[in-house]
Amino acid sequence: MKFKHLFEPINIEGFLLKNRITMSAMPTGFSCTNGFVSKKMVSYYAKRAKGGVSLIVVEGAAVEDKGKIYLSQLMASSETYLSGLNELAEGITKSGAFAVLQLQHGGRLAMGSNPMSASDVSFTCPCTRRDIVPTSMTGDDINATITSFTNAAVLAKKAGFHMIEINGGYGHLLSQFLSPRTNKRSDNYGGSLEGRMKLSLDIIESIKGKLGDSLPIGYQLMADELLPDGFSIDDAKVFAKRLEDCGIAYITVTSGTPESFFNGDGLFAMRSPEGGTSQISRDIKREVTIPVFATGKITNVQMVEDILASESADALALDRPLFCDPDVPVKARSERISDIIECVSCANCNDRVMKGMGADCTVNPKVGRESEEIGTGSSVKKKVLIAGSGPGGIMAALTASERGHDVTLLEKGPKLGGHLKAAPKAPGKKSWITFLDYLQNQLKESNVDVRMECGLTEEYLKDNLPDVLVIGTGVKLKKITVPVSEGREVDGPGAVLFGKKEPGENNVVIGAGFIGSEIAECIAEKGKKATLVEKLPSLAQDMDLVNRTILLRKLDEYGVQFCLNSKLVEITKDEVIIEDSTGKRVEIKADLVVNASGFNPANDFYPKAKDMVNEVHLIGDAKIPRNIHDAVHEGYQIGLNI
Ligand SMILES: Cc1cc2nc3c(=O)[nH]c(=O)nc-3n(C[C@H](O)[C@H](O)[C@H](O)COP(=O)(O)O)c2cc1C
Ligand code: SF4
Repeated sequence: MKFKHLFEPINIEGFLLKNRITMSAMPTGFSCTNGFVSKKMVSYYAKRAKGGVSLIVVEGAAVEDKGKIYLSQLMASSETYLSGLNELAEGITKSGAFAVLQLQHGGRLAMGSNPMSASDVSFTCPCTRRDIVPTSMTGDDINATITSFTNAAVLAKKAGFHMIEINGGYGHLLSQFLSPRTNKRSDNYGGSLEGRMKLSLDIIESIKGKLGDSLPIGYQLMADELLPDGFSIDDAKVFAKRLEDCGIAYITVTSGTPESFFNGDGLFAMRSPEGGTSQISRDIKREVTIPVFATGKITNVQMVEDILASESADALALDRPLFCDPDVPVKARSERISDIIECVSCANCNDRVMKGMGADCTVNPKVGRESEEIGTGSSVKKKVLIAGSGPGGIMAALTASERGHDVTLLEKGPKLGGHLKAAPKAPGKKSWITFLDYLQNQLKESNVDVRMECGLTEEYLKDNLPDVLVIGTGVKLKKITVPVSEGREVDGPGAVLFGKKEPGENNVVIGAGFIGSEIAECIAEKGKKATLVEKLPSLAQDMDLVNRTILLRKLDEYGVQFCLNSKLVEITKDEVIIEDSTGKRVEIKADLVVNASGFNPANDFYPKAKDMVNEVHLIGDAKIPRNIHDAVHEGYQIGLNI
């Protein structure tokens, strides 16, 4: 067998896990807004259990209202939630996995304007909660919190969960107590490591006092805060031993908090190093005899196997890889590796939850729709023509073909992928290549008739009239509307990304959305000067917060110059002339000028097509220039609707 270590069973306090892939807690926002388990949530977790994972840690359930982080967070704060939690535990168990409920308290991360924490220390990162100063918890608050965790554990047991996991990571309440940065208390819950560990240890003792060994407890440990003066790996080694002494069943090793994520460290950004916490889990594993799990950015099964083989962890706690593809374990067992949809760490899922929406997956539009009756078969077989092989076009082709239609996909160039070919060339975005590979493999295995170097023309359409035409022909660059001197070339982003044009000493990028900003980084990392000209007051506003912060830090490190609130006036042979934010005319030397001012849909053929074909759909950027997520989801939906 190819993945020998991965499929070795492991015993956790009498529960024999069939393999080493466990699912760790990941917020989905799938519960109802008042914290009850929804049908969508039950189906979502059951689907992952059916996919072969051995144990599922359900997303953090808030133990009390004051600990709730987002509106649709799952709750475990009273008996009201029992029947839903019971349905959830049963759904997981019946589908073949052990069910674990994670218990969570957000502390200063909690919603509302008056959250509690170890001390009145607010965030230093540019997050939305930066201006809120939490209230330092009193002795009564601490006792009430211990009771809330204990009651929630009793509830989980009643609901049929096999174990619980205590959330002590990612900057939530217990890690706020552990960290000397956020715990400035002078009572017995602060000061020394002994004091800072006390709240976690008291909670465990209280739960054990109530339930004995009848409900094993896992602990999600922040083994390194990744911040100066933060909770360190040395503290974590001591704490891990204490957790074992207190009867903890397993430890999941995490690192970082929202503050360190904004520094570009931690586990979640596109640029975060692969392999997650497998380095520090090895350090923790040396200190204890209980199972230790590694987590974060472990994106493929070979990596899982290697981590296990090197004895860096006893099991893996995967979240986004299983969110993205619920069938990773069964696909790995049958060695169908190219069928696995790998997470690209785009951060969309988490970003959506934090914005109050349910999570969905950029690269797998089926996620979150597990409870819907999505029929694969179509009653009438149709001739479907899809123009454009960007992610939207390919997804539409695969979905329509899977439903039994006769599908032809046209690509006017020599390579599949549209702009998805450009994305992995941008700094820190290499991971997109796995999605392009996946789509290409799926196409090869499908019945889709792919025609390369074949554009959509009137002649083609006349000769091959389809029942349905889907136009996913992407975008064309917006034209520069100011005067450009004769002979002066203005290039598109692709020229830099694909290495067709080398930057000179001085370079100007027009437009500082995320594409323009990434082009500036590409230029500056080669040691050349880059200036971004943008009419808006800020950079890369069209990017998620974490990846954006990292990009801005890189631009700063490389000394990229910005001219914000600036108007383009003219492009001459040697310069780009602008009117800056004060209305002053500024001439910027430019050996290379890149137009990243945006795109227009490339859909000129649409009106003509509508005259020729009964049913015509525009999808992806050809409808409105946006992103991979929207193209993929639109392509999938059209594929289902035909
Ligand atoms: C250099 C470059 C980088 C890009 N990076 C991303 C990205 O990180 N995330 C994203 O959603 N879209 C990104 N896009 C935009 C998508 O590629 C584009 O919206 C998508 O391919 C449209 O699909 P369609 O051609 O099927 O309509 C990028 C585009 C370019 C040119
Ligand atoms: S691909 Fe993006 S949306 Fe999907 S699981 Fe990974 S990070 Fe989340």
